[in-house]
Amino acid sequence: MRVLVTGATGGIGLQTAKVLARMGHSVLIHGRDSRKGEAAVQAVRAAAAPNADVSFFRADFASLAQVRDLARQVAASVPCLDVLINNAGCGNLSRSVTVDGYETTFAVNHLAPFLLTNLLLDKLKGAAPARIVNVASRAHRGQEIDFDDLMSVRNYRVMRTYGRSKLANILFTRTLAKRLAGSNVTANCLHPGLIATGIGQTNALARLVWRLVVRVRGGIPVEEGARTSVYLATSPEVEGLSGGYYVKCRLAELQTRAEAVSDAVGERLWRVSEELVGLPCSS
Ligand SMILES: NC(=O)c1ccc[n+]([C@@H]2O[C@H](COP(=O)([O-])OP(=O)(O)OC[C@H]3O[C@@H](n4cnc5c(N)ncnc54)[C@H](OP(=O)(O)O)[C@@H]3O)[C@@H](O)[C@H]2O)c1
Repeated sequence: MRVLVTGATGGIGLQTAKVLARMGHSVLIHGRDSRKGEAAVQAVRAAAAPNADVSFFRADFASLAQVRDLARQVAASVPCLDVLINNAGCGNLSRSVTVDGYETTFAVNHLAPFLLTNLLLDKLKGAAPARIVNVASRAHRGQEIDFDDLMSVRNYRVMRTYGRSKLANILFTRTLAKRLAGSNVTANCLHPGLIATGIGQTNALARLVWRLVVRVRGGIPVEEGARTSVYLATSPEVEGLSGGYYVKCRLAELQTRAEAVSDAVGERLWRVSEELVGLPCSS
């Protein structure tokens, strides 16, 4: 199988790429830093085999133009794509905006994978049965999408903005699954567990606090953190299943009000996202 893993230059994504390559799959690694990308290719080959089929693609998800360029490059390099794992993500301590003028966490965690997935849909349909796996988070707990403040202009708080972006991953997955019904392309999402990766470690203090939080709350090693991504990407157990949220390789309950994940909210977010990324309205 050909699998694209975004944000595979470190953390859960790199581990996911290693395991997939070890299983004999062709792995397309995405990251925003070429040096880290080359190191990741070497690390995946070292973990799998010296001649493992691994290639690197660079794009900063804080730029929609670069996301479009990534989709073009991937589409040009493979005849079809069996699995897309939308794993890249960030959590920013303070508010910033992208070159497109959007709040960075929402743009990187939601708008970028939304656009990338839509641009690669034909490649996925061409490989059907194909799978889309979105790495969400338990941080969606208790959150709701605030359509009046999607860019977190008012009173920015890192965990609220991050949690909302992860709720957006879940809503995207559920709406996508509905829209893909009958296409033989499935879409599922997951919480990987709590892992001391590079996320949120923008300075030494943040690194210390994050490691402490992970230890106190029973964090898991990155090897375990990649398990559900690999499961959803490859296991025959989930063949044909779509629209689910998984924790520890099991279907799990969402941890927010039913209204926050309703079909109507999912469709509304889809339409707004289309507008924000400049895709034509798909009705
Ligand atoms: N760690 C956890 O406890 C946890 C829990 C729940 C969910 N998650 C989710 O798991 C996923 C992977 O996170 P992780 O924990 O493995 O964190 P990580 O170690 O920081 O890895 C994140 C990956 O995304 C890339 N990335 C970040 N910003 C980007 C941008 N603007 N453009 C392109 N790539 C970008 C990073 O590249 P750089 O190396 O260049 O920054 C890295 O490759 C995320 O979606 C996260 O929300 C993590």
